[in-house]
Amino acid sequence: MDIKKIIKNMTLEEKASLCSGRDFWHTKAVKSQNIPEIEVSDGPHGLRRQTLKDDHLGNSESIKAVCFPAACATAASFDRELIRKMGKAIGNECQAEGISTILGPAVNIKRSPLCGRNFEYFSEDPYLATELAGALIRGVQSKNVGTSIKHFLANNQEYRRLTTSSDIDERTLREIYLAAFEGAIRDAKPWTVMCSYNRLNGVHVSENKRYLTTILRDEWGYEGVVMSDWGAVNHRVAGLDAGLDLEMPGSYGVNDREITEAVRNGSLPEAVLNRAVERILKWVDQYESHKSKSPAWDKEADHELAGKIEEECAVLLKNEGGVLPLDKNDTIAFIGKFAKAPRFQGGGSSHINSFKVTSVMDAAHGKGHDIIYAQGYDDGKDEIDRTLISKAVNAAKKSDVAVIFAGLPDSFESEGYDRRHMRLPDCQNLLIEEVLKVQPNTVVVLHNGSPVEMPWVNEVKGILEVYLGGQNVGTAEYNLLFGKTNPSGRLPETFPLKMEDNPSLLNFPGSGDHVVYAEGVFVGYRYYDYKKMDVLFPFGHGLSYTTYKYANLKVSKRKIKDTDTLEVSVDVSNIGRMAGKETVQLYVSAQTDGVQRPVRELRGFEKVSLKAGETKTVSFTIGKRAFAYYNTEISDWYVESGDYNIEVGSSSRNIQFSKKVSVESTAVLPLKITEDTTFGVFMDDPELQKLIKPVLDSYGHVHEKKETKSEAISDEMQEASQKTSPLRCVIGFGEGDFDHERLRQIITAAQKIIDKRMG
Ligand code: BGC
Repeated sequence: MDIKKIIKNMTLEEKASLCSGRDFWHTKAVKSQNIPEIEVSDGPHGLRRQTLKDDHLGNSESIKAVCFPAACATAASFDRELIRKMGKAIGNECQAEGISTILGPAVNIKRSPLCGRNFEYFSEDPYLATELAGALIRGVQSKNVGTSIKHFLANNQEYRRLTTSSDIDERTLREIYLAAFEGAIRDAKPWTVMCSYNRLNGVHVSENKRYLTTILRDEWGYEGVVMSDWGAVNHRVAGLDAGLDLEMPGSYGVNDREITEAVRNGSLPEAVLNRAVERILKWVDQYESHKSKSPAWDKEADHELAGKIEEECAVLLKNEGGVLPLDKNDTIAFIGKFAKAPRFQGGGSSHINSFKVTSVMDAAHGKGHDIIYAQGYDDGKDEIDRTLISKAVNAAKKSDVAVIFAGLPDSFESEGYDRRHMRLPDCQNLLIEEVLKVQPNTVVVLHNGSPVEMPWVNEVKGILEVYLGGQNVGTAEYNLLFGKTNPSGRLPETFPLKMEDNPSLLNFPGSGDHVVYAEGVFVGYRYYDYKKMDVLFPFGHGLSYTTYKYANLKVSKRKIKDTDTLEVSVDVSNIGRMAGKETVQLYVSAQTDGVQRPVRELRGFEKVSLKAGETKTVSFTIGKRAFAYYNTEISDWYVESGDYNIEVGSSSRNIQFSKKVSVESTAVLPLKITEDTTFGVFMDDPELQKLIKPVLDSYGHVHEKKETKSEAISDEMQEASQKTSPLRCVIGFGEGDFDHERLRQIITAAQKIIDKRMG
């Protein structure tokens, strides 16, 4: 396609109209130039291709397809290769169905357990989210099908999602919310980015130049298409100017006319429109010119793959007295509606019309087990049904072990609204309580998109978190419960003891049209660790049927510059009797005392497969970003000189080994010396200190004369208070030895030293 030539030949109207969709799922064709329309589809964990009636909320039917585990589950795999494989399968399905681009992955941070759409999102940690999103993008795009990473940016709740302003300071945005997108966009290069509905610091993201152009394109080098979320456009012309190329689903020509009008009256340069058209045409061409010649997809094979993926995702949270794996000779009660009709996906635009669903009852069928089923509750409504409970209690009584399949009903978490609390339905909590009265060997299997409170956590012997595990979740549950597969999922988020512990509590979902992210960078484990709070299950936690042992943590150097890289390695052994997979997590813990930092932050992870008795060495390479925080004074990542602990372990609360490394910054922070600069700045700097020696002497002298030193103020107190006092204090406390002129001389001399250093 000669894109430049085509643009030259297109009329203004044609160009404007290409910048919005023909309908819900198609771009527009440009007949005069032989440009075809292309089709997009939700996403993210399978195809929701609507061929009859369109909508963006999952109300109308879509084609029969395969529902893979949702991101809440796939994140728990901590496995890039696995997610890439899932991406390849989805990409292949898209090719077969003529879909140019799948609308996902969704990488928004799980800021609060209450966000209704958390099931579609990966994690509370931006590094984990961006790494796995990148893997999915690579997988899909390897089939020459595009992705649309979404929802850019800071869309972390459903409440008033089209109008609310997420009010976030720059450091937090960079370290948490932008970071979830950054790695995936820079490295995996999604064909498209979907901007979110909300406003960010007051401005609609769909017309926010700072994010859509300055950061996304100028800083991160993004070259693809930016499309709107469905209906996210506020002012179309402002959006186009800010970098929003494509409006979806379209506005029946209304906004196209706004664009042509703006070009005609000179308020929008035509070059801006041409730029958007060029990006859209490149996207169309990218798909059209590499379409698969013999597209085909095998539903059954993908169904099986969905089950295999889920097996790597489910997290064994608790296993007391080896209650799991189940003994195939035991009589087992399978209790709960989800044993027959599992909840395996969430509601809304990601809802897939599964061609088949395998429950755990289906999976166990015909395999010679003695299983008694009892429904236990009705998931349609949260009403206590005593008859269902008593039948379940009877089944549990007659069995050696009871497995309760519990979780959140569809109405409890969905796109479009947030959760009201973090509890399971009362009818399920009561069911678990009643079963526990007659059956001490009770295991709970959970189906949910984000954390739930567990009032029965100390009484049950086992807990398996399967999240929303896709349409073949039953096979995965069967294989995990009976020990055919060793659980290897790890929590991609903290499970707090109760909702009130969560850092966003007082600012979720905000008031009116503003939500202030007051907890700053202290999201998830960054907060719980800083506050040394007990949690139900920590970030990164997950058990196995075998035991792993760590040894030999090595770092390549003990002293580095922030421009160097550091090699870290550790040996991990499987010292149990069953093969399994361990996820080795690398955290960096800043020991510096400048800016407030989280206690530790995830900077690397590797999942390794280990046969019984096997040892492997796991290696990581980390660089500047692993040590840095975002310094708003220089608008850049900055590493404070000082010590950092390199921690390796199997969860954020189970650090096995740690090694101290000293990092020296090569960047010099600009400093403007004024009368408000503190003495501390001078006292900590040998060169500057000399300049204020007489000042310090005088300051100390004042204190000595006025009070009996030893009684009123110790040397430590004096030094501490001096360090935070501004230079101008010397006028008042210097007993007339200092005037403004002398102070100015000191300031000028100090500034000269600083400027010389800055070069
Ligand atoms: C959702 C998007 C989705 C789009 C199309 C919107 O309501 O926020 O995630 O891709 O609809 O269905």
